[in-house]
Amino acid sequence: MDATRSCPEPAGDPATIAPLLLAWYDRHRRVLPWRALPGAVADPYRVWLSEVMLQQTTVAAVRPRFEAWVARWPDFASLAAADEAEVMAAWAGLGYYARARNLVAAAKVVVAEHGGAFPADEAVLRTLPGLGAYTAAAVAAIAFGRRAVVVDANVERVVARLFAMSEPLPGARTAIRAAADRITPEARAGDFAQAMMDLGSGICTPRKPSCLLCPLSAACRAYREGVAERLPVKAAKKARPQRYGTIFWLQDGDRVLLVRRPGKGLLGGMRALPTGPWIDTRPALAEAPAAVDWRLRNTTVSHGFTHFDIELALAVGEGQAHHTDGEWWPIADLDRAGLPTLFAKAAAAVTGRVE
Ligand code: ADE
Repeated sequence: MDATRSCPEPAGDPATIAPLLLAWYDRHRRVLPWRALPGAVADPYRVWLSEVMLQQTTVAAVRPRFEAWVARWPDFASLAAADEAEVMAAWAGLGYYARARNLVAAAKVVVAEHGGAFPADEAVLRTLPGLGAYTAAAVAAIAFGRRAVVVDANVERVVARLFAMSEPLPGARTAIRAAADRITPEARAGDFAQAMMDLGSGICTPRKPSCLLCPLSAACRAYREGVAERLPVKAAKKARPQRYGTIFWLQDGDRVLLVRRPGKGLLGGMRALPTGPWIDTRPALAEAPAAVDWRLRNTTVSHGFTHFDIELALAVGEGQAHHTDGEWWPIADLDRAGLPTLFAKAAAAVTGRVE
């Protein structure tokens, strides 16, 4: 393989990319609640929390959740001392609950072993619960100004285009990382990472990128070759399996029965509406939590998990509050139960309220 194929080049001098991008960032950076103002020092707790929240959720959705969270748990010490069930409820709708458990676990380690402050070193950060390669690099760069190579989906797209890399994702990840490493500057690596993210979300967008507004168009090989919109190439996805089940809405007056899901497994330990088993075919009304007269709603609740999609029928019945396994929760207060999105959708379907 010749050198140019194993190590692609952007259209212009790669050394020009960081200065051009940082100059653009200084004028166009987004103001976000976890971001330090220009010249100010970022709070590592806020940077870390925002990066974990942003892993599965958009900036627009994270913003209010982030503000509410830091009002309640403003630092490592308060989070380390928090009630885990309350933290899990506050995480509802933000993706995997393992991330919330790891937030508490990491805060405890920071308090017990690091004197209540985050370590600045990327390798030490990686030893904390839940801090993988991405989060450790993002915190080291954004909160501590260390040189670290930060690659999320936005950065992947920008780099794949700058270097016109046509190898499909996810196979191209190693090459994309190496190319990102080549253009990451020694100074202002955190601003550089956030500038790549802002560019990816506002200009170098997946569809119809705004190349005419892009500060890097002169250095961009995909732009020069007219292929920006076709990159990055993604390998065909396998269809996700479809599962089915039934959600049981058991109501007694103004209360509804909630249960706790088993500690291990998907949504482990979370408060939930009772369900039957999740299986590969549409179910009969099996494993209802009470022998009452169930009425099937003519609507279903659908939800996508990472490894499968689920469609749940919705059965509604009148219960008796002496039923013991679970909590009878006031329906008017369901917002406060911290129900995972799937069950919040079911509740909204029954009550007619917006989620
Ligand atoms: N997405 C993930 N991290 C981000 C950040 N720090 N700024 C903007 N978007 C992001």
